[in-house]
Amino acid sequence: MDDARSRPHSSETHAMEANAVEANAVEDWQRILGVLADRRSCRDFDGTQMDRELLAEIVRDGMQAPSSCNQQQWHFVIVDDRDLLQRCHDISGGNHHFAECSALIYLCFQKGWTHGNFSVVQSVAGACYHMMLSAHLRGYDTIWNAGIGDNKALAELFGVPPIFEITGALAIGRAKPSAPAMKAPRRPFEEVHSWNGFARPAHTVYPVKAAKAYPYFEITNPSNPFAVWDPRGWSWAQLGDFRGYAVWAKSPLAGVYVSRRQGEATAAELDLLPDLKAGAKVAELMPWGGTYSAEIRRRLDSGVDFHLAELAQGNLTFILERLKREGFALDHTYGDRIDGPTLPYADGSLDAVILPQVLEQMPEPETMLDEVRRVLKPGGAVIASVRNLDSDYGDHWSEVESLGCIPNQGPFTPLSAETVRGWMAARFTPEVEQGIGTAVSQDATIVTDDNRTGCRLYAGRWRVA
Ligand SMILES: Cc1cc2nc3c(=O)[nH]c(=O)nc-3n(C[C@H](O)[C@H](O)[C@H](O)COP(=O)(O)O)c2cc1C
Repeated sequence: MDDARSRPHSSETHAMEANAVEANAVEDWQRILGVLADRRSCRDFDGTQMDRELLAEIVRDGMQAPSSCNQQQWHFVIVDDRDLLQRCHDISGGNHHFAECSALIYLCFQKGWTHGNFSVVQSVAGACYHMMLSAHLRGYDTIWNAGIGDNKALAELFGVPPIFEITGALAIGRAKPSAPAMKAPRRPFEEVHSWNGFARPAHTVYPVKAAKAYPYFEITNPSNPFAVWDPRGWSWAQLGDFRGYAVWAKSPLAGVYVSRRQGEATAAELDLLPDLKAGAKVAELMPWGGTYSAEIRRRLDSGVDFHLAELAQGNLTFILERLKREGFALDHTYGDRIDGPTLPYADGSLDAVILPQVLEQMPEPETMLDEVRRVLKPGGAVIASVRNLDSDYGDHWSEVESLGCIPNQGPFTPLSAETVRGWMAARFTPEVEQGIGTAVSQDATIVTDDNRTGCRLYAGRWRVA
């Protein structure tokens, strides 16, 4: 009887205990998944050292990842020597965080086995992400980098044998307390999944030239026969989609996205800004990445209302955060979403519109210029510059640049200075017209004679009559 009474009691207790364990387990995995979802890339490390045993633990965690045929032909070169980290930074080119992280873990694999469907690459990628999550759970920050620079130079530096490939590097360390605490936006779930077959919204698929097939190995960064550089081949929605995500290839830190080609040209372009008093209303159109926006805000009176008219919310979020980090109060700076060549401003309401090298990024530049004229006050100014097709740079673009993949700031085609000159003359009165830069890059010589339409940039200031 006792037994009979105790059995249900004991099994009940057991079930309750099991449920409690399960409830805790559910809470645990939900909490862990929440923590993992909070991971974000860090590009602003504090430069401190990390304990080697801890680094080893993280790599050991990575080794729990699955690998193709279980071969585990991965190899991790862990670099924690500060001089070597500096060399790695120099070789990488653009990844300044290589010099400031605590360690870089170079992801290598042996070539020659399990190559089908890149399975050897898939394996090392799995290990890398596992290490990232391990580091994150332990309170460290990371960033995965394909931009490691010259593989040969790295192989020489570390003595990596030629049968091994170096495919990337995981940077680990502690973020500076001031590092951006923002995660790059994710696409909506609806866009990136489909059940039992492929279906995807058209605006999320980037345009390509029509072809029967797109063989993977025919596409490299410097040579992409399928890339559509002409923005007229893109819809506004596709452009917005591209810009909103691709800008997060960097973090919104002060000073990011300064083009090496530009040299001093940005200053020369923005010297064309008119004198604007507090209370004036100005718009910059399609401000990719915020490099111009920061310089414009610096030059404007703090009481001038500065509007950023942009296709992608993800881009606006990025730029506004970047501007904060450049030290600007944002009380007179506004992010305005547009979804095509219609500006959200009343007729005759703006004192100036700034188009720095953006007409060549638009599917309908002339329609946008009509709209610019609509929103400007009488006497309002247009400050514009374009990359000039009729220049040495234009030749370089046609013969070299445009053969490769389109850059993160989106597709563009340099425009003929004479064509743009005509577009502007049809709508506005010219005030200043000049060429900037006689060389393919860097040089920012200002040319005002007839040769101005043969420079790298064609720029000017026009007024509404
Ligand atoms: C394979 C791969 C390569 C990457 N290479 C670089 C790189 O070279 N430089 C860089 O700054 N970020 C690099 N990233 C980081 C991505 O830009 C970043 O993961 C993405 O913007 C999403 O942001 P999140 O990691 O904060 O979620 C890389 C990411 C992956 C997965």
